Amino acid sequence: MHYTKQDISKMTHVDRLKLINSVSGIKPANLIATISNKGITNVAVFSSVIHLGSNPALLGFVVRPTKDICRDTYNNIKENHCYTINHIMPQFTEKAHYTSAKFDQNISEFDICNLTEEYIMDFKAPFVKESTFKIGMRFKEAIDITLNNTILIIGEIEHISLPDISFADKDVDLEQTKSVGISGLNSYYELKKIATYPYARVSEVSDF
Ligand SMILES: Cc1cc2nc3c(=O)[nH]c(=O)nc-3n(C[C@H](O)[C@H](O)[C@H](O)COP(=O)(O)O)c2cc1C
Repeated sequence: MHYTKQDISKMTHVDRLKLINSVSGIKPANLIATISNKGITNVAVFSSVIHLGSNPALLGFVVRPTKDICRDTYNNIKENHCYTINHIMPQFTEKAHYTSAKFDQNISEFDICNLTEEYIMDFKAPFVKESTFKIGMRFKEAIDITLNNTILIIGEIEHISLPDISFADKDVDLEQTKSVGISGLNSYYELKKIATYPYARVSEVSDF
């Protein structure tokens, strides 16, 4: 199969959405959890989390347009600047997936989707207890992407909690953590580590 830009533009909304959401390959599967200043918690699945830099330790994620639809994650982050990013694991992919439904602002997806809030130290936003790999984030910057009215939210890492065994040789093993990946908007994959290579130096490149 081969699709041109013109073919893509003629696709139905759903067909295009499914195809284009898959072409970047496996995306990270995360639950982003927040709390409003009124104390209502929120948790939703996001596949757009990206690494932006290690020093300072920055992660970004993309929020869909906020003009016509209330985006609780975005609003809560703007309110108190705190959020958590929690890897999704096979035991709770289904619960995680259903956090994407459009629940009322006053309803916590933690309750409806049967996920457990966990508070670590004095960090304001809830972590997801079922996840063994979680990150506490402080909001730093929101960049409007005018091409499609999405917003890139940038935050700095303040806490990382992960299983000891997955970081034993100072190289995070995502097969050990059992973090899953996402393709499109509704398929979840397990990850298998197939190789680890040293830092690539030109002088060390040999014939393969
Ligand atoms: C697999 C999957 C990945 C998603 N990734 C994103 C994403 O990266 N950005 C986004 O804005 N919405 C994403 N969504 C949609 C949100 O989960 C959904 O809009 C949710 O209702 C947002 O919750 P909120 O309004 O409480 O913030 C994704 C949905 C699914 C099912």
